[in-house]
Amino acid sequence: MPLVKRLQHFAVEVADTDRSIAFYRDVFGFKLTERHGAGECENIPVELTFLRLGDVHHELVLVHNPDKTYRPKPVRPEDDQDGPPMFHHFALECDSREDWLNVVEKVQAKGLTVVRGPVLHSWVDGRGDGSWGENEAVYVLDPDGHRIEIFCNLATIDPDGTHRNGEGVRMEGTRTEEL
Ligand SMILES: [Fe+2]
Repeated sequence: MPLVKRLQHFAVEVADTDRSIAFYRDVFGFKLTERHGAGECENIPVELTFLRLGDVHHELVLVHNPDKTYRPKPVRPEDDQDGPPMFHHFALECDSREDWLNVVEKVQAKGLTVVRGPVLHSWVDGRGDGSWGENEAVYVLDPDGHRIEIFCNLATIDPDGTHRNGEGVRMEGTRTEEL
């Protein structure tokens, strides 16, 4: 059994905290839990902002370093040919396909930069893009160029390793490295 329960929050560095709070609030409905200035707590020399979707204290943390000069990120993480390892994207899950379609509509209406999708990640389903996970996804950029995936219907793994899509259909031919 895993020693930990789940992957939970994500922290991103932002060049402008106000701008990012507005973005995550307006587009996805995050709520502000707490915002703290750099140095407010000993040994934390950065500004920290805690945002949540549900009832836990935070699911997203915005980190701003007032002493840092921020450069723009490349639109595609794979275009970064030199530098330290960076995160590629983080993902926000919708409860249903209907909710996901509403978000897709919203990001398009707001004119956000869509860098991929909407797409079905599947090589089994004829409607898919040849990739993996069976989820439907769209990828947008936040104001700092961080890539956010919004998705629904990620596959689950049956005990025999066969993947089951969001409609509960076993995707025969799929397999899982470790059970
Ligand atoms: Fe992803």
